[in-house]
Parts: sequence; C-alpha cells; structure tokens
Amino acid sequence: MAMLPEVIAILALLACQAQSHLLQTESVRRNLIVEVGDAANQYSTAKPCSGNETSFMGCFLASSNAKDYPWGSPEIRYPADGSPWGVHLTGPYPDGTTYLVSWLTGAPTIGRNPAQPNTSSLITHAAVTPAQGGTETRFAGSIITYLRLYSDTTLANYSYLSPYIHHVILANLAPSTTYNYKVSCRNGSLAGNYSFKTLPKKTAGDGSSPYPLRIGIIGDVGQTRNSTATRDQVVSNNPQVVIHVGDNSYADNYHASNPDLNKAGGTNQQRWDSFNVLWEPLFSKVPVLNIPGNHEIESTGIKSTISLTTTSWSFPSNYPFQAYAARFPVPGSTPASFGNITANMFHSTVLGGVATLISINNYIAFQPGSPQYKWALSEFKKVNRTQTPWLFVQFHTSAYHTYTNHYKSMECFLSIWEPIFYQYGVDLVFNGHVHAYERTHPVYKYQKNTCGPIYVTVGDGGNLEGLYRDFVDDISSSAGKPRCELFTASGLSPAALYYQNPGGWSSSGPRPSNCPTMSFQPATGLEGGPPLMLLNTTAGQPLLGFCQSSQPLWSAWRDPSFGHAILDLISDTTARFRWYKNLVGLKVAVDDVVLERKDACVNRRRRQSRRARRILA
Ligand SMILES: *[C@@H]1O[C@H](CO)[C@@H](O)[C@H](O)[C@H]1NC(C)=O
Ligand SMILES: *[C@@H]1O[C@H](CO)[C@@H](O)[C@H](O)[C@H]1NC(C)=O
Ligand SMILES: *[C@@H]1O[C@H](CO)[C@@H](O)[C@H](O)[C@H]1NC(C)=O
Ligand SMILES: *[C@@H]1O[C@H](CO)[C@@H](O)[C@H](O)[C@H]1NC(C)=O
Ligand SMILES: *[C@@H]1O[C@H](CO)[C@@H](O)[C@H](O)[C@H]1NC(C)=O
Ligand SMILES: *[C@@H]1O[C@H](CO)[C@@H](O)[C@H](O)[C@H]1NC(C)=O
Ligand SMILES: *[C@@H]1O[C@H](CO)[C@@H](O)[C@H](O)[C@H]1NC(C)=O
Ligand SMILES: *[C@@H]1O[C@H](CO)[C@@H](O)[C@H](O)[C@H]1NC(C)=O
Ligand SMILES: *[C@@H]1O[C@H](CO)[C@@H](O)[C@H](O)[C@H]1NC(C)=O
Ligand SMILES: [Fe+2]
Repeated sequence: MAMLPEVIAILALLACQAQSHLLQTESVRRNLIVEVGDAANQYSTAKPCSGNETSFMGCFLASSNAKDYPWGSPEIRYPADGSPWGVHLTGPYPDGTTYLVSWLTGAPTIGRNPAQPNTSSLITHAAVTPAQGGTETRFAGSIITYLRLYSDTTLANYSYLSPYIHHVILANLAPSTTYNYKVSCRNGSLAGNYSFKTLPKKTAGDGSSPYPLRIGIIGDVGQTRNSTATRDQVVSNNPQVVIHVGDNSYADNYHASNPDLNKAGGTNQQRWDSFNVLWEPLFSKVPVLNIPGNHEIESTGIKSTISLTTTSWSFPSNYPFQAYAARFPVPGSTPASFGNITANMFHSTVLGGVATLISINNYIAFQPGSPQYKWALSEFKKVNRTQTPWLFVQFHTSAYHTYTNHYKSMECFLSIWEPIFYQYGVDLVFNGHVHAYERTHPVYKYQKNTCGPIYVTVGDGGNLEGLYRDFVDDISSSAGKPRCELFTASGLSPAALYYQNPGGWSSSGPRPSNCPTMSFQPATGLEGGPPLMLLNTTAGQPLLGFCQSSQPLWSAWRDPSFGHAILDLISDTTARFRWYKNLVGLKVAVDDVVLERKDACVNRRRRQSRRARRILA
C-alpha cells in the first residue's frame, strides 16, 4: 500500500478560537478535520503536452487527444431498435435504500418541429434480483421525452426530440447487496444483465458498520479518450458511489445541426446521447450523485422562460438545464418531478447512514433570500453529527485553487457560503470547473485553519477543452513576473477588476449586486517570497494582498493532469483521500493523505480506533 505518512504533525493551536467571534452564539457542535502527517505543500509541473511549453493549451488542442470520439465511433454508438442503452444509476436517495435507474430507448427525432409524444400513460419496468439468489422484484416507472425547439431561424430545421427516457425508482433495496438488474425495451420486454451493489446503511443498535465506505469523485468528464481512461480507472477502483461535480457531456460545444462541428453558441443534443453511452460502464454499475455545471446550462437556441429566483438574478429567456434535468433527476425524485427543471437543481442525501452530502448549484441564485439559500441552510441545520458524522458539500465551480483560469471567480459565492461551511464544520468541499487537480489544507478565509474544510478540485475528468496548466504564481519567463500580476481581463488588472466587480472577475453564475466585500489573500497565507501587493493610490484604494509569487500555504497539492479521486471513509473520525492520475495508473496514488475528524480544536491528533488502524495497515 502506498506511502502512508509517518510523521504525526504537531499542529499548532490555530485560529479556531480567534475565529470564534464569527460563529456568533450558535451551539453547533464543531467538527474539525486535520491531516495526519501532513507534509509540505507540493506541486507537479507535469507537462503532458511536452515540447510546446509556450502554448500548453494550444499544443493540447492541436493534438488528436483533444477531440471527442467522432460521431459514429463504436465507443458512443447506440442501438435504435428499441433495446435499452445509456443505463445510469442515481442515488442513494436520502432514505439510504432507494435508487433510481434511468436509460434510453430508440433514437432522437431531428427535424422541423417534431411532435412530442404523450408518454404520460406509458409504463416501463426494471427488475432486480439479488446476485446471491432470491426472487426477482419488478418496479414500474415512467417515460419522458424532451424537445429542444430551436427558435433561431438558422437552426430551425434542427429541433431535437429526445429518445424515450425511462426512469424507474428502485425502492427499499437491501443494504450492501449486489443486485443484477434488467430494464425494459421499447416493447416492454426486459433486457440486459446489469449489476450494482447498494451502499451499506448504518443501523443503530445492531452493531453493523458501514465502514470502510469508498466514494469516487470525478468532474468535467466529457467524452474523449481521456474520459475513457478516467472512467475505466474509476471502475477498477471499485467505488460504492460516485460524486460527479458537474460538466458532463460538453454538448454545448457543438452546433445544433452537427454532432461533429465544434462551434460556440450552439448545443447539440446528440452529444448527450453519446455521453450516456460512453459512461454506461461506470454509471450503470455505481450510483452517481451529480450537480449541474456551466455546460449543463445550454441556454442558447430555444424559447421559453423559467425563473428560480426571488431576488436579483433570473434566467435568460429559454430553458436552461433542460437535458440535464431530463436525464439526471436528483436523488429523492418522484415520478411527478422527472424532467421538471426547478425540482432537479440541487439536492442533499446521506451515504451509508454516516455522510451527508449537500449539493449546491452555483449557476442559479444562491444568495440570502433565494430558494436555494433557504433550502441549503435548512439542510445544514438538519444535520445531526452524532448520527452522520461526515459532512460534505459539492458545487461545480472551484472556490479555492491557484490556476490562472477561473482564478478568484467564486469570491462572491465564498463571501456568502464560506462562513456557513465553517460554522457547520463541513469536512470536505468537492469542486470542478478548473480542468486540473488541486487539494487544499483545511482553510478558512485564505488562511490555513484546522477548523476549516479541505477543498478538492477535480475538474480533471478528461473533457475536450484540455487541461489548465498555468499557476497564478508561476513566474513568466518573458516578463519575469508571476502570471497573477500579469493577468488581465478585458485589459484590466486584477486590482481594477476587483474594484469594478467585487463579486469575482469571471462568470461563475449569478452574482448578486449586493454581494458583500470579500477577503483577499493575506500576506500571512504566503511563503517563499513576499506577496505582490497591488496598490492603486490613484483611486485611493487600500493595499490588496492579492497576487503571490509562490504556492500559497493553504494549497496542499496541485497537478495539471487528468485523473480522479477516491475517498475511503474508515471510521466516524478517519478517512483516507487519494488522487489517481491517469498517466500513472492505480498502483500509486499521486496524492495520498489520511484525514482525522476532531471533535474540538485541539493541537494533537486523536488516536485512531483499532478498527481504523487495521483497515489502514
Ligand atoms: C504549439 O502551440 C501552438 C499554438 O497553438 C501551435 O500553433 C503549434 O503548432 C504547437 N506546436 C507543436 C510542436 O505542437
Ligand atoms: C422487443 O425488442 C427487443 C429489442 O428490439 C427485441 O430484441 C425483442 O425480440 C422484442 N420482443 C418482442 C416480444 O417483440
Ligand atoms: C396525455 O395522455 C393522458 C392519458 O392518456 C391524458 O390524460 C392527458 O390529457 C394527455 N396529455 C396531453 C397533453 O394530451
Ligand atoms: C429548413 O427546411 C426548409 C424546408 O425543408 C427549407 O426551405 C429551409 O431552407 C431550411 N432552412 C435551413 C436554415 O436550412
Ligand atoms: C448476469 O451476470 C452475472 C455476472 O455479472 C452472472 O452471474 C449471471 O449469471 C448473469 N445472468 C444472466 C441471466 O445472464
Ligand atoms: C489523453 O489521452 C491520450 C490518448 O489516449 C493519451 O495519449 C494522453 O497521454 C492522455 N493525456 C493525459 C494528460 O492523460
Ligand atoms: C416543478 O417543481 C417545482 C419545485 O418542486 C414545483 O413547484 C412545480 O410545481 C413543479 N412543476 C410541475 C409542472 O409539476
Ligand atoms: C442527534 O442524534 C443523537 C443520536 O441519535 C440523539 O441522541 C440526539 O438527541 C440528536 N440530537 C438532536 C439535536 O436531535
Ligand atoms: C487605478 O484606478 C483608476 C481609477 O479608478 C483606474 O482607471 C485604473 O485602471 C486603476 N489602475 C490599476 C492598475 O488598476
Ligand atoms: Fe465548468
């Protein structure tokens, strides 16, 4: 087994007490997370596109690796004869024993104003049988379709009516049980021989343990050869559930009329079909917990309105998230909510009876007063850490990372949510969007803090847009300065951008006009050289500790390469987190750290339980 850290870190009594004034009078029991044997900050300068260091992205995009499978490739082909394809599982539902199985039959209809069939009276089925023998249970479900009726006249002949999308709820399955399952063809006969294992469920009083519990984490996966590599490595690592932090098919990188024509501003629904085919080997085997990313919005080309907000932000005038909502209902969905966009934007569930996952959509309104804010706060309040000691959050856009792309784009979001994550003692936050890997130390307001969450960015699933290579603190060889200092957007420096738009400088969803001022990288969060203070005395602005010339102290590990993460929950207090890199394979996890949850902010490590030590040995 690879590199277990041996040194027990003596953690200084950090700023928890000092921060306590932020916690007001909440009587929330703090749950803290620290790294066992946490070593120095690390980063890799991996250049998977060697030989073109002046234009990493350009080199990648020029290579054949940066292409989705061409339309018609065997990897993404599906049968149009009515057999099931694109089978995928969602779950577990919050009750811990219910899952959703979804699949497609037939082929889409592409043409001028196709008529949407009335599927409301159609019934479909899935049948599950315990692999160890036993009786078959048959569940009935429903069929939906969705129609993207393009209002743009240049796209008028490319309206897309989806294949039949089947959704069947598999209720009250036995925990920790492998089931073989079959699903209905168009004509109703059952087909296929799929199999999946339900998660364990802790049951009070019966002595059962849900540990160890293995969670896979992927993001920004797409449909390239690199996506396949990620998919197959995740399958081989055998997770019991997969968290997918969003950006699925990248269908919106294509023209509506041609699934091989990359073109900004359109979206090609056939690329959702191929996506469902490509990922079936993982998604039909392991239940997935998804959250929408920007590539799920698909706001172009259709005409309709929807509003999920009561305050400062509203959707553009068409249906966003339409394909996503139709194909990936949230855990907890009922037949009445299949395909209902509003009902499928965010969710929360419990894994193994011990880990709460709250999944937030940062592309719809998230500010105080919004429906999502009220919902999420009530979810945080409901968590009982005695029953479910682990608490995780996922949302698409990376909040803590040091790559130039999307740097600081979540300042507004953080200004609202970071104190809430802190107050409720979130253990880990999972993000994507940044096409690379990065893990932070426990952090709060840009300072290492054993009471803060660890943020994990895994937007490294392999999509066609390629990897992000540049760190903000890299010294540009031509300018002799860190990229952070050189960075401009629309010709404005970071400082000017900040004053123009304190909510962050790139698109990461709705940005309320009343977003509070956020905190910036303080000098004490840096090492390896002085921070670059950006000063604009012309405008009478104060110093901003903003740029840095080295990896900040809160960044633990970063590597611009494709891969996936595995989180093993080993006990109520111990977990092991690993990041696997496609180019290295599964023999060695490139990043490997043991995490200990603490019940109080103390400066020494809690003893691992005997059971935890046995599992880790
Ligand atoms: C390097 O990237 C540039 C910019 O996209 C591209 O024009 C050039 O062909 C690449 N060179 C090599 C050797 O791949
Ligand atoms: C139902 O459809 C499947 C897939 O096309 C086909 O293999 C099967 O023979 C059909 N069954 C009946 C009874 O028609
Ligand atoms: C669809 O069919 C159901 C039952 O057959 C019927 O009650 C309903 O009115 C139909 N809906 C539309 C929009 O035609
Ligand atoms: C759409 O189809 C109609 C009829 O087939 C044709 O007249 C029209 O030119 C087509 N429009 C486009 C944009 O291809
Ligand atoms: C289905 O596959 C499992 C192994 O994955 C096998 O044990 C079982 O016999 C198969 N059942 C059928 C009906 O083919
Ligand atoms: C992406 O996939 C291609 C084709 O399999 C492979 O050659 C390349 O090394 C992969 N890149 C990374 C960064 O994993
Ligand atoms: C869709 O879901 C929302 C939120 O759950 C609900 O308010 C609305 O009534 C639903 N719409 C339909 C048509 O069922
Ligand atoms: C939390 O759960 C524990 C164990 O089930 C229970 O004893 C306790 O009362 C719960 N706390 C609250 C605030 O409900
Ligand atoms: C300094 O502030 C002025 C006035 O607001 C602005 O025009 C200028 O772009 C700023 N300069 C920098 C380097 O941010
Ligand atoms: Fe994204």
